[in-house]
Amino acid sequence: MGELKGKKIILGVTGGVAAYKAAELTRLLVKAGASVHVVLTEGGAHFVTPVTFQALSGHRVWADLWDPRMGNNMAHIDLSRDADLIVVAPATADVMARLAQGQCDDLLTTLCLARDCPLLVAPAMNRQMWEHPATQRSVAQLVGDGVTVLGPDAGEQACGEVGYGRMLEPEVLYEALAAHFQPKRLAGRKVVITAGPTFEAIDPVRGITNSSSGKMGYALARVCAQAGAEVVLVSGPVALPTPYGVARVDVASAQQMHAAVFANLDAADVFIGVAAVADYRPADAAEHKLKKSGEAMTLSLVPNPDILADVAALPNAPFCVGFAAESRDLDTYAEGKRRNKKVPMIVGNLVQDALGSDDNQVVIYDAAGRHPVPRGAKDALALRIVEHLGRLLVAA
Ligand code: PMT
Repeated sequence: MGELKGKKIILGVTGGVAAYKAAELTRLLVKAGASVHVVLTEGGAHFVTPVTFQALSGHRVWADLWDPRMGNNMAHIDLSRDADLIVVAPATADVMARLAQGQCDDLLTTLCLARDCPLLVAPAMNRQMWEHPATQRSVAQLVGDGVTVLGPDAGEQACGEVGYGRMLEPEVLYEALAAHFQPKRLAGRKVVITAGPTFEAIDPVRGITNSSSGKMGYALARVCAQAGAEVVLVSGPVALPTPYGVARVDVASAQQMHAAVFANLDAADVFIGVAAVADYRPADAAEHKLKKSGEAMTLSLVPNPDILADVAALPNAPFCVGFAAESRDLDTYAEGKRRNKKVPMIVGNLVQDALGSDDNQVVIYDAAGRHPVPRGAKDALALRIVEHLGRLLVAA
C-alpha cells in the first residue's frame, strides 16, 4: 500500500508468545516499502531471535540502551528522531504499565518517552491479565495520553484459555498502520458498499452467479474505513476476510442485498455499488433438488430490483457511486449508465481486466467528464477512487 512507502517505523517487540507474529508484521511492512527498525526487549528475545528480525527488516536489531553503534550513546533519542511511528507489538501487560507510568528503564520504553511521533500498542496477554483492573487502568491512561491501542482480539489463547487478550493478526495490524497514514477524507461520513456476486437459487443446490471475487469492493471498504468513514459492507458470497474496522453483512441473492442495503442506509452519506448483481433470478426456486429427466429444460427468469437506481431515487439519497463492467465501448455504456441510473459518479472497467483479478484499470465518469486511472492493484485504485469521491463530496 502506498501510504507506507518510505515511512520509518520502529517496531517494539516485547516478551509474549505473539512475538512470532511480529516477524510476519515486519515482512508485510517491508514489502510495502516501509523502513522497519526493530527494538527487541530482553523478554522478546526469549521468543524470537534478533537474527529473524534482522533478516526480515534488513537492519540490525536494537536491544540495548547503551548500544555502542550510536556514536553519541543517545540511541533513545537518535532512533526515534526521524521515525514516523512507533508500534509495540506484542505489548505485554508489563510494558503497558511501564509506558502508562512514564517509566524508561530500557531502550524501548525510553524511546517511547523520548518521541515526537505517534505511538501505537497491540496488547497480547492472558485474558485475566487483560481484564485485571491494573491493566485496564494502564489502557485508560495510555488512551488518555494519546496512544492508540489496537485490539486485543478474543479467541483461544496460547495458555489454552479463551477470551480477550490475543494480539491482532499481523495482516490486521498492517492494515491499521496503513490506515494511520491515510488522510481522513471521509471522517464523520457513513458509507454503505455492496461487493461480490449475488447467487440466485434455482433449487437447494444450484444457482445463477458470476465470477466477481469481491476484491474491488473489499478494497474500497478497507480504504473508506482507513479514510475515517463508518463502513457497512453488504457482501455477496466471497472468500475474503472482512477489512479491519468494517461492519459486514453477508447476503446471497439480489433481493437479500437490496433489503440489507436499505436496512443500513439510515444516515448514510455515500452508497457505492460495486457488486455484480444478477439482473434476473429464477421465477420460482424449486424447494427440492431438481431431478434429471433427459428432456430439455426451460428456466423462467424475472427481473431483480436495481439496488443502485433505487437508492439514487430516494428523496434524500446519499451520494451514489456506481460501477459499470463492460466488454466493449466503455465510454458509451458507462456514461450511459451514469445518466440512466441518475448517479453523480460511476467507475467503468472492462470485464476482461476486472473480474476476479488483483489488478484493474478504470475510468471515473462524473459531470465534469472522464478521468482515466492507470492500471494498478485494486487497493491502489481504491485509493484513487476515494480521493476522487472525497473531492466531489466536498464540492457537493
Ligand atoms: O469483484 P471483483 O472480482 O473485484 O470484480 C470487480 C467488478 C468487476 C465486479 C467491479 O469492478 C464492477 O464493475 N462492478 C459492477 C458490475 C456490473 O456488472 O455492474 P452493472 O453494469 O450490471 O451495474 C451497474 C451498477 O448498478 C453497478 O454499480 C451495480 O452494482 C448496480 N446494480 C446492477 C444491477 C442491480 N440489479 N442492482 C444494482 O445495484
